[in-house]
Amino acid sequence: MAAAPFRSHTAVMDTADREAVGLTAVDEHARSAAGQRALDRAHQHATRWLDSLPGRPVPARTDVDGVLDALGQDLPDGPSSSEQVVDLLATACEPGLVAMPSGRFFGFVVGGSHPSALAADWLVSAWDQNAAMRQVTPGVTAVEELAGRWLLDLLGLPTDAGVGFTTGATMANLTALAAARDQLLRRAGWDLAQGLSGGPAIRVVAGRERHTSVDLALRYLGLPQAELVDVDDQGRILPQRLRETLAAGAGPGAPAIVLLQAGNLHSGASDPFDACVGLAHEVGAWVHVDGAFGLWAAASPSYRHLTAGVGGADSWATDAHKTLNVPYDCGVVVVGDPGSMSAAMGVHGDYLIADEAGDPMDRVPEMSRRGRGVPVWAVLRASGRSGVSGLVDRLCAHARSFADAIEELPGAEVLNEVAFTQVCASFGDDERTRRVVDRMLAEGTAWTSGSRWRDRAVLRISVSNAATTDDDVARTIEALRRAAD
Ligand SMILES: Cc1ncc(COP(=O)(O)O)c(C=O)c1O
Repeated sequence: MAAAPFRSHTAVMDTADREAVGLTAVDEHARSAAGQRALDRAHQHATRWLDSLPGRPVPARTDVDGVLDALGQDLPDGPSSSEQVVDLLATACEPGLVAMPSGRFFGFVVGGSHPSALAADWLVSAWDQNAAMRQVTPGVTAVEELAGRWLLDLLGLPTDAGVGFTTGATMANLTALAAARDQLLRRAGWDLAQGLSGGPAIRVVAGRERHTSVDLALRYLGLPQAELVDVDDQGRILPQRLRETLAAGAGPGAPAIVLLQAGNLHSGASDPFDACVGLAHEVGAWVHVDGAFGLWAAASPSYRHLTAGVGGADSWATDAHKTLNVPYDCGVVVVGDPGSMSAAMGVHGDYLIADEAGDPMDRVPEMSRRGRGVPVWAVLRASGRSGVSGLVDRLCAHARSFADAIEELPGAEVLNEVAFTQVCASFGDDERTRRVVDRMLAEGTAWTSGSRWRDRAVLRISVSNAATTDDDVARTIEALRRAAD
């Protein structure tokens, strides 16, 4: 790697500046030279890691104990150079790293890292801005506001909605549900400042195959676990069942939240928003959509029909670190009424500098946080509208190729309608399917997940990395063929 010389920020200070902040020439030299070497080493290790991805086995080669042994577990008595620390970190961790950003990681739903987003993320760390207040950090706030506007446009959501950048979809779900709780209780004449105890009950209704993270968000918020509504064979909520469940409640106007989903973890299917949003609104319920990865169908003209009517909901959660291929961690919360978002999340303090336009910290659970919306802007700026829709199309096409190839394998069966990015397959009885999952992991060409869906063991393939190529798909299918033999 040609080491591009970093200019330390202290290098642009004149003598008076340096004296004013108490830096001597020696301190400055020590900071810039040692700091620069550490950054150069980190850059070298990072590029070596990225270069290794196409060829390396996907699973880690050691376990946590192996990494602990390599790191050395005793707190050192004295200092080491930053460069040494970076080298130790990179070499000790390397065998314990999973090639999650590789094009052959199809486990969970993890996405990858678009180069522009990764590079922007490095800048975010270097800038070290606390992205809480508009007037204090105008640079990252401007970038995040623009990213937010572009997201609303791409996802077909109301253009005046509030947007916050969270650690992931779990916290985006939590933030949206906090806004829902706040608004519903206020409407019922209850001030949350009194706490929840003794207040009006809020009903929560969700499809039987909601993602577990919404249960977690409800638990954090002191809301009841959801009443579960039956779903169809793809995990989509049945509108008629939803109607019946809502009708069995306390009647129109009683505080209620209906949780819908864009992107079932196993099938990729989305709830029928057109029918369900209207039903929920008829009884005055707040509609929240968990669209961690499935909401991105809206960004592609070819897949937008899967999320028809989603824009009519009241709040939405999605991830940029999944389909959009921003590095961890980056979720997005969108609330149609920004007022209820800031009522739930906003903070005030005499030492804070509030902006009339509203501050980023009024839209997320944290006060202090990194500018995690900046990599979102970078990938959107680098991809443009056509790049994002092309990405969604490519991920779906790879999923289709997997499904077609699996159907050809002896004894294998694709269990879901492959309408989006998820493929769920059985290789016969549960035991054989589990053996195929285990063999795939042991062999290491690709990572596919085991799971259980509709009472059957399944092998799950989730296509969410922009880096996945036709060759990655072909190599993974070959590995599946070997594992199934
Ligand atoms: C539908 C759905 N909702 C929520 C989540 C949780 O997202 P995160 O891990 O970013 O918090 C996931 C994760 O896969 C998901 O698939």
